[in-house]
Amino acid sequence: MANTKSNRRTFAIISHPDAGKTTLTEKLLLQGGAIHLAGEVKARGQARRARSDWMKIEQQRGISVTSSVMTFEKKFPDLNGGETITFNLLDTPGHEDFSEDTYRTLTAVDSAIMVIDAAKGIEPQTRKLFEVCRLRSVPIITFVNKVDREGRSIFEVLDEVADALALDVSPQSAPLGMGGLFKGILDFSDDTVAVPEGDSKEYLGKREPLGELPDDLAEEIELARIGYPEFDLEAYRHGDLTPVFFGSALKNFGVEELITAIAEWAPPPRPQPAGEEQVSPDRDEVTGFIFKVQANMDPNHRDRIAFMRQVSGTFKRGMKLTPSGLGKPIAIHSPILFFAQDREIADTAEAGDIIGIPNHGTLRVGDTLSEKNDLRFTGLPNFAPEILRRVILKDPTKTKQLRKALDDLSEEGVIQVFYPEIGAQWIVGVVGQLQLDVLVSRLEAEYKVGAHLEASPFATARWLKGTEAALKNFEDFNRSNLARDRDGDLVFMAKSPWDVNYQVEKNPELTFSATKER
Ligand code: G4P
Repeated sequence: MANTKSNRRTFAIISHPDAGKTTLTEKLLLQGGAIHLAGEVKARGQARRARSDWMKIEQQRGISVTSSVMTFEKKFPDLNGGETITFNLLDTPGHEDFSEDTYRTLTAVDSAIMVIDAAKGIEPQTRKLFEVCRLRSVPIITFVNKVDREGRSIFEVLDEVADALALDVSPQSAPLGMGGLFKGILDFSDDTVAVPEGDSKEYLGKREPLGELPDDLAEEIELARIGYPEFDLEAYRHGDLTPVFFGSALKNFGVEELITAIAEWAPPPRPQPAGEEQVSPDRDEVTGFIFKVQANMDPNHRDRIAFMRQVSGTFKRGMKLTPSGLGKPIAIHSPILFFAQDREIADTAEAGDIIGIPNHGTLRVGDTLSEKNDLRFTGLPNFAPEILRRVILKDPTKTKQLRKALDDLSEEGVIQVFYPEIGAQWIVGVVGQLQLDVLVSRLEAEYKVGAHLEASPFATARWLKGTEAALKNFEDFNRSNLARDRDGDLVFMAKSPWDVNYQVEKNPELTFSATKER
């Protein structure tokens, strides 16, 4: 069960590009007193981009390919007698063409906020990210943004969320009019209205009791209140129901309610599966898993930062943890906590926190870290690639550099790499086109390897498992369709989904897995 004592809330915001994630992030951080200047989040983003010219793709497309972590605190007078809650907000790349990085980031959160544009409703990226959350029963709070503009009716939005995502929706507030007619947000919990003030028509903290409403609006509000299920904490935490807040990130409406809802309702750190076992956040021993590895911004250094989601225990600086991939302990002397304003050296961290661990490539996505090296977290998959390409070197003498680069980048989780058993043409696999662009640009910038990608005969890949004899037998007959991944594990390269089905039926003694747990 959830550890109710913990004051950590580790969450992500999922949305389609342009729905307002950046604006909302900034307002949440402001609420928490973590940053003082509006616009800081974007400014930081640009500053970061300017520095990271190794990733030219970011600049060219004006997007953020890498995700980061923001930590902020806020006191809640009404919560357990004035508790301070520590929020860890994990940023997911907000590009339409999303990558495995995004999936993996969602494995490190306990809940999510889904931001929807009131005029556009559920968009493709929102839906994809939602599906990833659903796979892990990650509970979701919905924020319907931009009600200061003309949008769809609240019923249209609520019903669309309910229908498209097969979720119960429970509105917690409602806009009094939208666009030019917008008069504020009614909070259902106490019947107060957050009202716009000044020329900018922003919410500056003024709340008024609900007065007389025009008949049609009064009717609409009444319907929104009684026509939908009441909030039910258990149903929300199971991922069956989403509370819905209306607001405007730009004008600061609904943000206060949202952060309070996360503090009150969003689950504290959840137990994490390690095979049959569930590792509780209350366990004394420090444990965690790496969900992301980011190369250093400086192309002259091969340093990386591995992002560890702490699952249990109290981490102290200098502590020795053993990575499952390495087998021997490493001392973590300069861990990084990601505060919004600055990076700070972490002295201690709790379950639910994210720690950045500088390293030279020893830590890999999916690794477990623990004090005793006695468990391994499961459920952090490699996804079956949907796009497979051959890597063609411009200068054939650079084979060695290419191999090193592909190994490195697959360790980082940028791509997956497959070395065919026959032939020398290496194959990379990704789940989104963007990953390929990143690959080519980084090969050139960081490894000085010119390469281009060509179509491969394969459509997808499956990791093979079975007895040694069964694998050997399969290998003898299918060598031309077999490859080894970065870890040397056997992978069946399929020309079509039909090909997969055919082999699955023909080889009942083998398993063909679309994901690989590390
Ligand atoms: P994203 O990170 O999800 O991609 O969205 P972002 O916050 O960057 O917002 C996308 C655009 O929508 C921005 O306008 C932003 O100002 C606007 N926006 C966000 N929240 C609201 C809201 O509550 N109401 C209104 N009316 N607009 C909102 P932009 O013109 O593209 O960018 P900018 O020049 O304002 O930065």
